[in-house]
Amino acid sequence: MTSAITAQRMLSPRLPLRLCASAASLLFPLVGLSAADTPTYAKNIQPILADRCYSCHGPEKQKGELRLDSPEAIKKGGKNGAILTSGDPAKSTLYSLTLLPAGDDDRMPAKGDSLTQAQTDAIRDWIKSGAAFDGVAGVVAKPEPVNGPLHLGPSDIDLASGKLSKPDAAALKALSDAGAIITLISSNGAALDVDLSHLTEPLTAGHLKELDRLAANVFWLDLQGSALTDAGLASVAKCRNLTRLHLNRTAVSDAGLGALKGLAGLEYLNLVGTSVGDAGLAHFAGLTKLQRLYVWQTKVTDAGGAKLKAANAALVINRGPAFSKVDVPDPEGGRRRR
Ligand code: HEC
Repeated sequence: MTSAITAQRMLSPRLPLRLCASAASLLFPLVGLSAADTPTYAKNIQPILADRCYSCHGPEKQKGELRLDSPEAIKKGGKNGAILTSGDPAKSTLYSLTLLPAGDDDRMPAKGDSLTQAQTDAIRDWIKSGAAFDGVAGVVAKPEPVNGPLHLGPSDIDLASGKLSKPDAAALKALSDAGAIITLISSNGAALDVDLSHLTEPLTAGHLKELDRLAANVFWLDLQGSALTDAGLASVAKCRNLTRLHLNRTAVSDAGLGALKGLAGLEYLNLVGTSVGDAGLAHFAGLTKLQRLYVWQTKVTDAGGAKLKAANAALVINRGPAFSKVDVPDPEGGRRRR
């Protein structure tokens, strides 16, 4: 289920960064606290947990060996480990379990009504913005040591973007005026999630030129369903720090994907619904960080997938639900008919 969700898109409307002439002034540290719309732990999240979760995950009871009544406990997680992955709601059971339907045994809270949409959205947006524990006595804003067991503190993106300068404000404004949804995803305001999948007009070379100006700052890029072609991949290739890339439902081809060979940090790539086949995949043999590759509704074959996996054993290639139920013969044959 998780993979299906991730494949569709990062669960959710993004938190749009409202950009104006003074865009640069918005880009100050602690993303979660800078954008007016972003929920904060003390104001939005803790009250939800206190109201709906502490009864089973607090001082009295620790169901699932989990407490949710302090930042430390939340970071520690439960019997199955971490429940929070900063920046990634889909990977955070603190959020995902609250989305399950009321009849599901795993739905949280385990009793009573489901959380409201506003509450689950707040949790999602808080996690997405970096899951900062603001305003809690005794908690210092200083991040956790990087190599600690927890997934909190400076994310990989914080580290990778540490030396980058702030994104070009004019390019940010031009793209957001064109309908792009741009979100800050590092605490230093340097790393961006750029969603070009909902532009008001179809993607043009002009948009890609603006993207070029932001290239170093773009860590996540969503071009799904856009008018992107192989020619436009040159701009994608300039985004050297990309870790997530959505190219699903675009006209990119096997030949064009060769341009992406240099994206050494790429961890997630979605090519669902493209004409891509094994030859396209072959370009990714050197991308050793690649962990997830989505190729439903493409021409990729088992052999092509296996070849790529031989170069990168950690890679999970998802060929979609169709492949788990194709042509299963009906055990009852024709006898089912009355
Ligand atoms: C009525 C009791 C109850 C309430 C209220 C409740 N939970 Fe739980 N929770 C449980 C139980 C029981 C488990 C363990 C389930 C299992 O192990 O199968 C659990 C497990 C979890 C886990 C998984 C922990 C792990 O490591 O496996 C998470 C995350 C979680 N709850 C989040 C929440 C959140 C968030 C809320 C409030 C919105 C909440 N729970 C409210 C009973 C509750």
